[in-house]
Amino acid sequence: MAPNSENRSEIEKRIDIIEDDIAKINPRLLKLLLKDKTTGKNILWCTKDYEEYGPEYDEHSQIFVELITCGNSRVIQPRAAKAKAVQEMRIRKRAEVFTPSWICNAQNNQVDEAWFGRLNVFNTPNGTRWITSSGNIEFFDKKKTWQAYVDAKRLEITCGEAPYLVSRYDTTTGDLVPIYERIGLFDRKMRVVNENCTDDESWIKWSKRALQSVYGYEFQGDSVLIARENLLYDYIDYYKGRFNEEPTFEFLKEIANIIVWNIWQMDGLKCVVPYSCHETENTNYQITLFDNIEEKGTNPCPGCEKNDLLSHNGIYCRVFDWTNLKKSIPFVSLLQGGMKHGKI
Ligand SMILES: C[S@@+](CC[C@H](N)C(=O)[O-])C[C@H]1O[C@@H](n2cnc3c(N)ncnc32)[C@H](O)[C@@H]1O
Repeated sequence: MAPNSENRSEIEKRIDIIEDDIAKINPRLLKLLLKDKTTGKNILWCTKDYEEYGPEYDEHSQIFVELITCGNSRVIQPRAAKAKAVQEMRIRKRAEVFTPSWICNAQNNQVDEAWFGRLNVFNTPNGTRWITSSGNIEFFDKKKTWQAYVDAKRLEITCGEAPYLVSRYDTTTGDLVPIYERIGLFDRKMRVVNENCTDDESWIKWSKRALQSVYGYEFQGDSVLIARENLLYDYIDYYKGRFNEEPTFEFLKEIANIIVWNIWQMDGLKCVVPYSCHETENTNYQITLFDNIEEKGTNPCPGCEKNDLLSHNGIYCRVFDWTNLKKSIPFVSLLQGGMKHGKI
């Protein structure tokens, strides 16, 4: 039986985005957050952790709204609120170790150091915390404008709950982080948007572009959903900070659509939808030793057999290029350029 929403621990109350709350804004919003843009179906569980709740929770099955709302609203919880035994099992199975926010911050600072050509632009690390820099972020280089910073593409590979992209809460302690102290790659872009967009129209335009520029992929379906929820709630925090009111459902639908494209479910070792590679029937019938007995065989997926990224027969995941091509492309095509310099 699924856990009910009573008797939630303090940590859960602080950080767990209850799927019922999203459904309350509008059930269509949660439905959208569960979509897989490549297949047009829903994302899959891709973890055995929930199989005890029934056959619909099988790792190969899609996640549906009714499986995670109402009596089932506590089924999906962020890692920091999961039981220790479940955390340990997920470490063994999928190397699921979430990076503490102060380490995400130190590494994100390095990304910015490379971009700005100077140290500690957004904050100065201070042990396991950081001191947020005061004043507006300055852009000195003519080519490196604030707009170029907001548009610069960032990808968190195997993103889990996406702690490098957004830092609403510290992934290890579960403490909520105030918006002006957040250190995610998206949070940094939103600081720049807040500091540079004086009128509401430009704030809306550039906040959407900030969102369109951050990407992440992940194998396990519960983490994909939590990462999407984290981005959505992070965006809502900034929206409310700016306008002092809740965004409308129509607007949230547009925001969720960007998030659902940009945070996607993928087997990162193959660039395909998890479990989509398959055996095919062997069309060359084999004549066996005993003359006219014919045996039908099966062939494995050629990509899996040869560990060749470009010849899988599964469904290659698609990502959306919002700024240049304005259409979706297979994610693997982005890696093909890099392959000219050596096998990935
Ligand atoms: C060490 S955690 C890192 C999560 C997050 N980036 C962080 O720093 O906290 C590794 C993540 O990789 C995911 N993962 C494992 N194998 C994967 C695969 N083949 N494709 C995509 N993600 C995978 C796990 O589910 C897990 O969430």
